[in-house]
Amino acid sequence: MRGPFFYLRDVMQDIEKLEQDLLAEIAGVADLDALESLRVAALGKKGSVSLMMRGLGQMAPEERQQVAPKLNRLKNTVSAALDAAKAALLDAALNARLAGERIDITLPVRPEMTGRIHPISQVIDEITEIFAGMGFDIAEGPDIDDDFHNFTALNIPPEHPARQMHDTFYLPEKADGSRQLLRTHTSTVQIRTMQAKQPPHRIIVPGRTFRCDSDQTHTPMFHQIEGLVIDKTSHMGHLKGVLAEFCKAFFEVENVTMRFRPSYFPFTEPSAEMDIRCTFAGDHIKVGEGEDWLEILGCGMVNPRVLEHCGLDPAEYQGFAWGMGIDRIAMLKYGIPDLRAFFDSDLRWLKHYGFVPLDVPTLGGGLSR
Ligand code: DAH
Repeated sequence: MRGPFFYLRDVMQDIEKLEQDLLAEIAGVADLDALESLRVAALGKKGSVSLMMRGLGQMAPEERQQVAPKLNRLKNTVSAALDAAKAALLDAALNARLAGERIDITLPVRPEMTGRIHPISQVIDEITEIFAGMGFDIAEGPDIDDDFHNFTALNIPPEHPARQMHDTFYLPEKADGSRQLLRTHTSTVQIRTMQAKQPPHRIIVPGRTFRCDSDQTHTPMFHQIEGLVIDKTSHMGHLKGVLAEFCKAFFEVENVTMRFRPSYFPFTEPSAEMDIRCTFAGDHIKVGEGEDWLEILGCGMVNPRVLEHCGLDPAEYQGFAWGMGIDRIAMLKYGIPDLRAFFDSDLRWLKHYGFVPLDVPTLGGGLSR
């Protein structure tokens, strides 16, 4: 018969052996399911560690005193090893998933992407980006407007000859005899802006405009961009500065030589048309320097009569405005020869002249690429 001493030594050895075996098994486990089975086999109700602990009850008190702490340590060690292995497996699983879901955003877009941004949308985005950089807000107004906003408030009273030049599309007469119209210019939004809020104003208005006119350089629907600045101090010098900055940024050149020719618009006084230098080389045009002049917009100081129509005191407020054809400067910048093609919806044309959707124009990254 073995005495108690031998029995104790065996038990202590068994515990050590079990610890080694369990730790080795835990270290070798490959997935969470296997780890869970191992946990049950060791620490579960009928697990190897639990069975040993149950054996404590049959031991003599002095033996128990020695075995119990050792068993507790075993339980803690195994349980800590199981936790660590579980954390490591979860970590590895997450890393594997992240690696699997990795997307290289520097790769070019997928070849099947064939949609294109229309040059007019592109140019509107470019213009917006430039003026936003100078602190302008974007304003909008309705395509269908009334006589007051399109003409009267802009100092074009009913008998004014300028009305004839606008080739206006009118809607059918209403019961009160008035007729709405398709706005002939974006200048309507000057009025709407000044009516809606108190100055200061610093806005640009990109939008559709309509005139009953159609040939190689005119379409019944076209696009304009209006600019308006109203405060107490802005003058013609500011107008020139803003437009010079715009031209350089838009045509992406270092220098643009400009010229202001006296002109007439009922809603500005004085009024001017702005030309910029350019060179025609074959069917290409270089903007900024050269022998020729290119007319690009109309502008001036807002006429005091317009301010009055909007309820502003011209003794207190002043400002400048300009209006420009978007289609025309899009044609110039991107060498597009025929205006009518803009509205043909010919996908071959759009593929050739259009822009890749994700190349959004920015001042920092480049307007056109
Ligand atoms: N509204 C004018 C047109 O359609 C363009 C224009 C000229 C707008 C001078 C302005 C301006 O704001 O100051 O031809």
